[in-house]
Amino acid sequence: MPSPIGEAARRRTFAIISHPDAGKTTLTEKFLLYGGALSAEAGAVKAREGRRSATSDWMALEQQRGISITSTVLQFPYRDHVVNLLDTPGHRDFSEDTYRVLAAADAAVMVLDAAKGIEPQTLKLFEVCRARNLPLLSFINKWDRPGREHLELLDEIEKQIGLVCAPVCWPVGIAGDFRGVIDRRNGDYIRFTRTARGATVAAEELVPADRAAVEEGAVWDDAHAELDFVNGVMPEFDRDEFLSGSQTPVFFGSALTNFGVRLLLDAVIDYVPSPPPRIDVEGTERPLDAAMSGFVFKVQANMNPAHRDRIAFIRVCSGMFERGMVLTHGRTGKPFATKYAHTVFGQERATVEEAFPGDVVGLVNATDVCVGDTLYFEDPVEFPKLPSFAPEYFAVARVRDTGRFKQFRKAINQLDEEGVVQVLRDADLGDQAPVLAAVGPMQFDVAQWRLEHEFGAPTELRRTTYKLARRTDAASAPVLRAMRGVDVLAKSDGTLLALFESPYWLDRVQADQPELLLERLIAEG
Ligand code: G4P
Repeated sequence: MPSPIGEAARRRTFAIISHPDAGKTTLTEKFLLYGGALSAEAGAVKAREGRRSATSDWMALEQQRGISITSTVLQFPYRDHVVNLLDTPGHRDFSEDTYRVLAAADAAVMVLDAAKGIEPQTLKLFEVCRARNLPLLSFINKWDRPGREHLELLDEIEKQIGLVCAPVCWPVGIAGDFRGVIDRRNGDYIRFTRTARGATVAAEELVPADRAAVEEGAVWDDAHAELDFVNGVMPEFDRDEFLSGSQTPVFFGSALTNFGVRLLLDAVIDYVPSPPPRIDVEGTERPLDAAMSGFVFKVQANMNPAHRDRIAFIRVCSGMFERGMVLTHGRTGKPFATKYAHTVFGQERATVEEAFPGDVVGLVNATDVCVGDTLYFEDPVEFPKLPSFAPEYFAVARVRDTGRFKQFRKAINQLDEEGVVQVLRDADLGDQAPVLAAVGPMQFDVAQWRLEHEFGAPTELRRTTYKLARRTDAASAPVLRAMRGVDVLAKSDGTLLALFESPYWLDRVQADQPELLLERLIAEG
């Protein structure tokens, strides 16, 4: 029988984060190509289907907006390893979703468009990685076409995200005239040969320095002059610094032409840590070879109108998962049968027979299961809940047709459990007019769309004037409620949130009545 420790050692589980259009889908396809999992064409078709098909109601919304909300998890072999690639939504409004996916990843690849660098809407996603000290690799994409100066891009990463850049390879040729890269670790020059739109693995030629100097001419000299400068001001790659989340190895490439993709994928294998034992709520490590356990980082319902079901994505933390085993759902203590265990790639599902630490399994029929829940086999364990984000947008939801109230109530609970929006309730108004709270306004669009199209409960959302939230307690709540410009609402897990209209007002309340509990939530914008 395979050992969970040995299998975990072969796993690399990471996510790709990027601004929409920076090239995440293209890079994903190319990883699959290098993993031998798909031909380039099949890859293109599949990834597009996964992202753009309109076979489910809310995928139509994704298509309309050009955003990705649904998740994809891919597994492919590479160099005797098993790579798990987790997809993340590429928009800051879904930062909380990204954060949850990142909780299931051991590292992330940040893809930047060479012509754009760090885009303001995406900054928050990168900050989320920093907040978790998640090891981050940077890939500066689209070097095959005109873009910005490399040093300027590195400077931006350092200044805006606060990461120290350690370029691993250095491009020969400016953006738009990309010849190859110098591997800074050993001085090798790797020259790329263009293939038709990157349909096959890019041909790479290792060229000795003296020949390169003659053949590449001035761009070779320029690259070396730049490298001399870089060597003086930027450190070499240091794995410990990378693992602690303070340094990012930087790669230049072009996902479209496959340039630099192999170097990046090799770095994923060589640098990203294999899944470590997960720490439980007591602060104790769950050994990798303990009985099977995992936690839910994503719940997705009604992905496909043909089967209106609910899938919980779990990251396996210990032991070996075998399809059919009966797990315990930690929060309710109920048994959870795993007859239907899948990987999900866009609309496609494939049955998973077994999985190991670092792998992701989609469990169908996950009624009652919420994001953050633990599932285990025999030996109980509870992993820490995933922290929720500080919402910054609030809207009162009311069903338009009271005859649809039952559907409305069911839908609101479902959206809450999936974490599409946070749902807050007023003790007096209860389920009639819950307050939906979001990190970004596009979450409201998704909620409203799904309420109407999926649950048949067209809903009016009226934005409130509240702008920030603090965690409070039962002792402080009545005092706060009595104040002007403050409201206290409850989340479904009982957490009380005090909502304020302005930071100024919050500061005053805190200054005047320091005894009130007003605790910050994570990732405030
Ligand atoms: P995303 O998932 O991050 O949103 O980005 P995606 O991969 O879909 O890429 C967005 C666009 O950028 C695509 O063009 C894609 O072909 C292009 N692209 C990705 N990587 C590179 C690269 O390295 N160099 C160049 N020049 N372009 C790149 P599109 O026109 O929107 O789509 P398509 O018609 O090519 O499919």
